[in-house]
Amino acid sequence: MTESDSPVGSSNTPDHAPKEEPKGMLAIRQVAMPANLNSGGNVFGGWILAQMDLAGGITANDHAEGRVATVALTAMEFHLPVFVGDVLSCYCDVTKVGNTSLTIHVQAWVHRRTGAKLEVFKVTEGDFVFVALNEDGTKRQMPRN
Ligand SMILES: CC(C)(COP(=O)(O)OP(=O)(O)OC[C@H]1O[C@@H](n2cnc3c(N)ncnc32)[C@H](O)[C@@H]1OP(=O)(O)O)[C@@H](O)C(=O)NCCC(=O)NCCS
Repeated sequence: MTESDSPVGSSNTPDHAPKEEPKGMLAIRQVAMPANLNSGGNVFGGWILAQMDLAGGITANDHAEGRVATVALTAMEFHLPVFVGDVLSCYCDVTKVGNTSLTIHVQAWVHRRTGAKLEVFKVTEGDFVFVALNEDGTKRQMPRN
């Protein structure tokens, strides 16, 4: 792997970006499209949040072995802006399993390619709490494995 292919920490990483590896399992990847821009020309934070919620929901659904709902977002940090054409990758790390809920730390990373140059860095992270649901929408016990 060359430095420019390295997932993180390459010389192409912005100076102010955290030098670290993505934490957790890759759940989804999505390209930021022009329709996802805000009036300032950057990608709308709500779109990024939605991708993270979807990624967390997929992971929570697997752990809960069925339907889940997002009940809380207890922490959220936007580190860097996302631009059109960026590939957003969401990584999920289950940090707590409760009686009916589970907490997932979701990190969003960007792959930004300009010609042969590839930049990879963390843009956003947050803690999402999901509750396991019965078919009627009431909470249920998390499976114990
Ligand atoms: C999910 C829902 C059924 C839970 O109902 P409830 O009976 O009021 O749930 P509780 O208050 O007992 O909380 C259930 C679990 O969530 C946790 N929880 C609830 N609110 C929380 C919060 N603000 N922060 C952290 N955890 C929270 C509780 O600690 C509990 O966890 P545990 O059982 O593992 O200890 C209900 O809140 C609901 O339907 N919310 C709307 C969900 C929704 O529409 N989401 C958006 C679309 S997916």
